[in-house]
Amino acid sequence: MSTKTQELYERRKRVVPTTLGIFTPTSAASAQGATIIDADGRELIDFAGGIGVLNAGHCPEPVVKAIQDQAAKLIHTCFPVSIYESYLDLAEKLATLFPHHAHDGDCTKVMMTNSGAEAVENAIKIARQATGRQAILCYLGAFHGRSMMAMTLTSKTALKLGCGPFAPEVYRLPFPAYNPRIHTASEAEFCQAHLDEIRKYFTTTVAAQHIAAIIIEPVQGEGGFYVVPKPYLQGLRQLCDETGILLIIDEVQSGFGRTGKWAAYEHYDIRPDISTWAKSMGSGMPIGCVIAKGSIIDSINPGTIGGTYLGNPVCCAAALATIQYMEHIDINALGVKIGSIIRKRFEEFHRKYPQHISDVRGLGAMLAFELSIGGDIAMPDSESCKKLIHFAAEQGLILLSAGLHSNVIRTLTPLVISEELLNRGLDIIEAGLKMLAG
Ligand SMILES: Cc1ncc(COP(=O)(O)O)c(C=O)c1O
Repeated sequence: MSTKTQELYERRKRVVPTTLGIFTPTSAASAQGATIIDADGRELIDFAGGIGVLNAGHCPEPVVKAIQDQAAKLIHTCFPVSIYESYLDLAEKLATLFPHHAHDGDCTKVMMTNSGAEAVENAIKIARQATGRQAILCYLGAFHGRSMMAMTLTSKTALKLGCGPFAPEVYRLPFPAYNPRIHTASEAEFCQAHLDEIRKYFTTTVAAQHIAAIIIEPVQGEGGFYVVPKPYLQGLRQLCDETGILLIIDEVQSGFGRTGKWAAYEHYDIRPDISTWAKSMGSGMPIGCVIAKGSIIDSINPGTIGGTYLGNPVCCAAALATIQYMEHIDINALGVKIGSIIRKRFEEFHRKYPQHISDVRGLGAMLAFELSIGGDIAMPDSESCKKLIHFAAEQGLILLSAGLHSNVIRTLTPLVISEELLNRGLDIIEAGLKMLAG
């Protein structure tokens, strides 16, 4: 680590809680596209994108301009106090991009939030009130944030230690992580077995008529980039329709082009009843949202959702400019292109380093490989994962881990990254794998 960066970490030690994580030993003074300049003027290739926030890149010019213009005009009123155009412009855009209603006289409505966790909190409140039911089903490996309900829904115990009691009426299902390298059943059979288990669960654990919603990430983010198989999510949609359970899809990490579509759920030809968004929506400005069928969100009690800052004018302007810029650069095509380059290299790493890599998985540019001792998927190798991240940082690449065992390397690089820079980053990962292989 170089001098000025070291100095920053020394200052951090004195005034910042130690327990606030340090994911990579790097610093940042400025950034553009997929490149960060650190406090010492060193160039870093960004494969983290601020944890999936920068699909449109660091500081896209139209977004910076929209923030500057809006900040000069109006920074805050609190939307329920005095309404303003940027909120409505953004809500209209989101409702058009992500229609949740069928063509049955219903509509789609949007509530802005300040973060992904806040979107999840509100989605649950809305689902409970709309159904008059209390129970929520979530998944093993899920991550939905760090506020109390979101933390309850989150799976990894290391992220929850000592924080309980957690919210009641939350039930956890096994995640349908189909892997043709491991499972002998076909994907369809595997999914059917998982769906059958949910029906049994209604008898053994919690009655369907007691369940307000099932919340699921189409691609688990923090959980390690497991992709929900198509027959499963389609079956889940059907199950929800049959039982009146609402389907909440959490797109906080998978949305806005990351998987090659605006919404990862679009890969499944289904629509959620409620969805949650944040991260790349605002290019780093703190904004998220809950999108829901109008008939659902308008059925709840007044006063139960809200907040001082939600849908702040500057954040709304940033989000709208981000989406318009994403349309202009065809973010989904970039997601597909970047994803295919990364996948090809990751598969190659898997073939070359079978003693270290046990799996490659993901959707679009939301891709990861899993590190295991001796290449045995039952033996997670978090130590090697840590070493690889440190090696990469030394070589000028910001990398992130994921997974219940912190043994998964994931890529969330800005999708505007040039092929040259992307390949340079991938070369550093390969050099790191060579280092691990000794
Ligand atoms: C799928 C998912 N949901 C919710 C959240 C929480 O979002 P935030 O950190 O903005 O509260 C995250 C954050 O990583 C996430 O990946």
